Amino acid sequence: MAFPAAFIDELIQKNPIDDVVGQYVTLKRHGSNLFGLCPFHSEKTPSFSVVPDKGMFYCFGCQKGGGVINFIMEQESLDYADAVRFLAKRAGMTVPEDEGRSSTYQRQERLWKLNREAARYFHDALSGQNAEQVQSYIERRGLSKGTVTRFGLGFAPEGWTNLIDAMAKLGYQKQDLLDAGLAVKTEKGSIYDRFRNRLMFPIIDLRGNVIGFGGRVMDDSTPKYLNSPETIVFNKRKNLFALNIARKSKQGFLILTEGYMDAISLHQYGFDCAVASLGTSLTAEHVTLMAKYTDKVVLTYDADAAGQNATQRAIAILEKAGLQVKVLRVEGAKDPDEFLKKYGADRFRLLLERSENHVEYQLQRLKSQFDLSQDEGKVEYIKAAADLIATRNSSVEREVFGGRIAETAGISTDVVKHEINRAFQRLKAQQKKRQERIDLQPATEIQPRSRSIRYSNIRSAAAEEQLLRILVAEPSLFAKTSGLTGGMFSSPLLGRAFDHLNRLHLEGQAPSLSSMGEEFSPEEASHLSYVISKDIGPVKEKELMDCLQVIRSEYEKQQSQSVPDLLAARARYQRTKGMGG
Ligand code: CTP
Ligand code: MN
Repeated sequence: MAFPAAFIDELIQKNPIDDVVGQYVTLKRHGSNLFGLCPFHSEKTPSFSVVPDKGMFYCFGCQKGGGVINFIMEQESLDYADAVRFLAKRAGMTVPEDEGRSSTYQRQERLWKLNREAARYFHDALSGQNAEQVQSYIERRGLSKGTVTRFGLGFAPEGWTNLIDAMAKLGYQKQDLLDAGLAVKTEKGSIYDRFRNRLMFPIIDLRGNVIGFGGRVMDDSTPKYLNSPETIVFNKRKNLFALNIARKSKQGFLILTEGYMDAISLHQYGFDCAVASLGTSLTAEHVTLMAKYTDKVVLTYDADAAGQNATQRAIAILEKAGLQVKVLRVEGAKDPDEFLKKYGADRFRLLLERSENHVEYQLQRLKSQFDLSQDEGKVEYIKAAADLIATRNSSVEREVFGGRIAETAGISTDVVKHEINRAFQRLKAQQKKRQERIDLQPATEIQPRSRSIRYSNIRSAAAEEQLLRILVAEPSLFAKTSGLTGGMFSSPLLGRAFDHLNRLHLEGQAPSLSSMGEEFSPEEASHLSYVISKDIGPVKEKELMDCLQVIRSEYEKQQSQSVPDLLAARARYQRTKGMGG
């Protein structure tokens, strides 16, 4: 849908990009730009930049960029129209709406409300009829009143339409309950409650919205847990249980568990930084989410083989994102919940203090995988351990762990050190080769990294880029570009950007790409943001004329090509013009 240009203009004025981004990212000024840690990928040093003058952001790490609307689209997972509504709400503006079009955002809002009502219903049911069994179960699991309230636990009573009926009284329809995953449809088309006779765990996102539920049986029947299906508000790969509470913790780290019950128990015993994944293995998205709040994660998965394998996988993902990883192994209990009940908070705190750096943990694991009483096993162990330690960049670490390996294997430290050094050199050589391959790519310096946007004529594209930068910095120079159209650009994308700016200029608005979104795909917006954000220093008219000259001459060269080539080029331009948004 199209919003009036004047409305978008005002929207952007009233939502300064540094202000909006500043609500999510801590920004520090650096010259005329601001820098911070990118909210879209995990990083330790800031490569995310905001250029307030141009109303744009760009991350040199993950190459995402755009205007304030693009930022909200990415950050809040909204489409263009909903990002506009989001910003309008923020600035207290009324959106000129198409009648009858219900947006994703509006549908999401409806499900958030329904889920909240459902959570309230389940919670109230704890003190309603037929709640004896759940009450005694809660008691048996040792959950305090405070914990039950804090996590908003609830009870889905026995029966097929309890929730459906209660929600109908509040005005919710069949379809709403299906959309929220709270009801299931039979083949005949009638619906029934998904959650029946279960202890209910609401799952709450960082904005405080109830997005889904986990429901546990209160006996040994299966499945032990039933979870909400994926819905337009519930994505298991992108949310963590209890992070809404843990993010406020003062501990300075997060404890990651496998189970809801483990996380809840930890909170009850005073470890308010515990979170759990939602019955799925850890994803890079989970890690990005955690990295917003901490740079240190303690893994405490179940003691069984499955839990230890999951630990290995989780270490790799967390390490890759640059987070510090420690591993806490519960001893004498199957999981943290059982451990706390058996041994109490003090013993757990001791385990926490002694929790191993993940390298130690991995060494321990290797040790248990080889038979060190046999020569063969010893050799294999030393090789594997040396490979592991060689991945550490700190020579101190390599030294210390080398000593440990020698001790474990009962072999001289020198031999182990030699082995580690060889593995380290091998690794470095590989890395160097990879880097050289990257460095070798000549003249393609300005070639977009995105594969779907390629410059076919680098010389012209360089001039086109610079022309756009000059015009944004000095709109009065548009007067010098008469006769130039986007179709004359070698890069269809840069041509469209020129047309966009030109139109704004003719409409009497500031030619800026900060309102990009509708006519450019996120990828295109990112690239344009990168192009425009480059600093050009003082604007010179002479330089603009040079750019124009290059663009025109390259265009003429191309014009003298065969007619079929020409048609193909034009078709390409038209095609990309229809894309995006
Ligand atoms: N899980 C699930 N579906 C199942 C079993 C488990 O989604 N059928 C998920 C739940 O998120 C659960 C986690 O996997 O919290 C870990 O499972 P488990 O260790 O069995 O559950 P706990 O939370 O430890 O619960 P309890 O202490 O009651 O056994
Ligand atoms: Mn468990």
